[in-house]
Amino acid sequence: MKRKRILYGLTILIVVLSIGIALAIVPPPPANQDLGIYDTLCEEFAEDDCRACHSSGVPDTHHLLVQNGVYECTDCHQVTTDPDGTGVGVIRNCVECHDTSPHHEAQEAVDRHCSHCHGSYVDDYDDGHSIPTYEPSLITPDTSYTVEDGATGKKWGGCEACHEPDSTSVPPIYSNPETHHNLGSLSLECNMCHGDTSLNDSVNENLLSIRKCEDCHGTKSLHNIQYNYTSTKGQLGYGHVGDDWDCAGCHAWYVAYSYAPLEGPVIPDIHEVSPTMILAGDETVATINGTNFVNTVNGTNYTSDVVIYIGTGNITLAPDSITASEIVVTIPPLGAGNYGLRVVKSGMESSLVPIVVVPQVTIDSATIRRSIVTIRGSGFSDESYNGCLGVTVAHAGNDLETSIVTWDGTRIVVECSPSATVGDIVTVNALYGSDSATIG
Ligand code: HEC
Ligand code: HEC
Ligand code: HEC
Ligand code: HEC
Ligand code: HEC
Ligand code: HEC
Ligand code: HEC
Ligand code: HEC
Repeated sequence: MKRKRILYGLTILIVVLSIGIALAIVPPPPANQDLGIYDTLCEEFAEDDCRACHSSGVPDTHHLLVQNGVYECTDCHQVTTDPDGTGVGVIRNCVECHDTSPHHEAQEAVDRHCSHCHGSYVDDYDDGHSIPTYEPSLITPDTSYTVEDGATGKKWGGCEACHEPDSTSVPPIYSNPETHHNLGSLSLECNMCHGDTSLNDSVNENLLSIRKCEDCHGTKSLHNIQYNYTSTKGQLGYGHVGDDWDCAGCHAWYVAYSYAPLEGPVIPDIHEVSPTMILAGDETVATINGTNFVNTVNGTNYTSDVVIYIGTGNITLAPDSITASEIVVTIPPLGAGNYGLRVVKSGMESSLVPIVVVPQVTIDSATIRRSIVTIRGSGFSDESYNGCLGVTVAHAGNDLETSIVTWDGTRIVVECSPSATVGDIVTVNALYGSDSATIG
């Protein structure tokens, strides 16, 4: 039996990555945008930027909400009688419905476990990382900067030495206060990032205490941030530990030549995962592209595993093959649902990439008795909806008129007029996809 499988998601296979393209501005400021999240506000994300991370299963992640009984079709779709006969109005632009950052209402964000999504680019306040207890010294970086070169205006000794806004970039790069102050209600938790906020005033040293920033930006993360470590070691401007110039960006005139402050395993970063479609119950060989998957620091070789986050636990997978920029890994069969994928190297985690495992629609057999066609298989779900989903039977290139007699997850009975015959092609359009088979 020859089958053609069309999944709705195929329409979104071509993903245009507009955010995250290297600007290659060296030296900073502004810093390049190769690692972590583009330094902008949620409202600047275009539909394609959302889809760059949510690259697969967008319809399914919504439609699985129907199965759970929380939503009905009409909560998200207008029923129409438009000429192309689909029957539902489909809005595809994410931000039409998700009009504020949907991420920072998540439980992990509320719990201040920012690393759940941001990976080891940030530390969590309760993960036991060390924060100096001494008063900030001359070499301690400032939240903005400690010295400014009078002649050039170049800043040294703090985050602003390199992380400055740039309104000419597309989308614009925003300032550090702006990126941190626009996370929805999360940003109202002032003391998550600040000391004493009773004096709402930027000259208040308690308010802008680097020690509070170190709850999330400790040396454990800061000293392991570098784009493409293997190639940029010794070059300035690609991160925090390429060259003495970078050290001085945070530590001003102090250069600690004799020290080896690196934790070592430099944080890995994922740029793309393919294929974007993962089918429930199938083993999937995936290719992950990115940077820093393997590196050598001070004679120690560090290498990565792939971790699938499944909510209640993790599955750790050893790669089939690995280079600094590419991992091939075999993902075992998973059930339909939402998962996360990340690369982990000696405890250093990349940011989380969402993956959606989509239910398969499979016809095992289609048989005919009088004018009644019985289709057996799986993944048909329970819905037939207003003409947009349903069964078509093609006889000599023409669609016969069909009416559904019964429809459940594994069996559909349909009556055709005029009657179908052996050899006709039957197609099931179910909520999660479609499949075709020849009536036998
Ligand atoms: C940098 C990658 C990335 C980008 C860009 C991104 N997302 Fe997400 N998104 C995630 C991750 C990771 C999760 C959490 C998955 C998990 O917890 O398993 C998530 C979760 C969500 C959720 C569910 C939130 C919840 O309550 O758990 C929504 C809704 C969402 N994203 C919408 C969007 C929209 C809309 C955009 C564009 C404005 C977008 N995402 C851009 C990575 C991204
Ligand atoms: C929680 C919101 C939500 C609910 C509920 C919902 N949908 Fe959708 N649906 C969407 C979104 C969003 C898209 C567009 C996905 C995309 O563009 O990637 C979509 C796409 C579709 C498509 C077009 C698929 C394609 O990509 O061409 C159909 C058909 C559809 N939905 C039918 C239904 C039916 C039938 C129901 C009820 C059983 C339903 N939807 C319930 C959000 C929803
Ligand atoms: C027609 C309105 C609509 C559009 C368009 C839409 N969504 Fe949603 N989405 C919803 C609703 C409603 C929910 C459920 C409530 C919530 O989490 O906000 C949801 C939930 C989600 C979830 C979480 C699913 C879960 O299991 O909790 C993700 C992820 C998501 N949307 C991503 C996207 C992305 C990415 C796009 C664009 C490609 C998009 N949405 C477009 C309405 C929409
Ligand atoms: C569910 C996943 C998720 C969690 C948990 C999460 N974030 Fe985010 N964060 C994102 C995504 C995706 C974006 C980009 C889109 C957006 O703004 O919603 C982002 C953007 C940001 C930005 C702006 C981008 C930049 O580079 O400056 C900041 C700042 C930020 N998050 C801080 C936090 C903090 C602080 C926490 C913990 C208290 C946190 N996030 C928890 C997913 C998450
Ligand atoms: C010497 C210049 C320099 C200084 C000073 C500096 N950074 Fe960076 N930082 C960079 C560069 C370059 C990158 C890599 C940008 C990329 O390619 O995405 C980076 C990346 C990051 C990242 C990874 C995620 C992202 O959004 O790019 C974080 C988090 C970060 N820096 C925090 C800080 C903090 C906090 C400070 C102040 C304590 C600071 N940086 C000071 C140059 C600097
Ligand atoms: C997620 C972390 C975060 C949260 C939450 C947060 N801030 Fe900030 N805030 C920052 C960062 C980062 C800066 C920039 C520090 C610098 O450049 O010295 C900043 C700067 C400031 C400044 C200096 C003026 C400016 O805008 O540059 C003030 C005042 C301030 N914050 C007040 C507040 C108040 C009041 C709240 C609560 C309503 C708050 N912040 C919540 C991170 C945060
Ligand atoms: C509760 C955790 C948290 C605290 C506290 C915090 N930040 Fe951040 N910061 C983040 C997250 C999350 C990101 C985004 C990382 C990414 O791109 O994935 C970020 C990114 C940054 C960056 C990189 C540029 C950018 O916008 O991505 C700088 C610089 C920075 N923070 C400075 C500060 C300063 C200064 C303070 C203290 C005033 C501070 N942060 C406090 C979580 C925090
Ligand atoms: C993004 C900012 C940043 C950059 C860039 C940076 N450091 Fe640090 N470093 C810190 C912070 C924050 C501390 C904690 C010191 C404090 O709070 O007084 C620290 C501490 C140190 C210490 C004290 C021991 C330790 O590990 O805690 C040494 C030594 C050091 N840094 C060396 C370096 C060298 C060498 C480089 C360049 C290869 C460098 N740092 C780059 C932020 C940075």
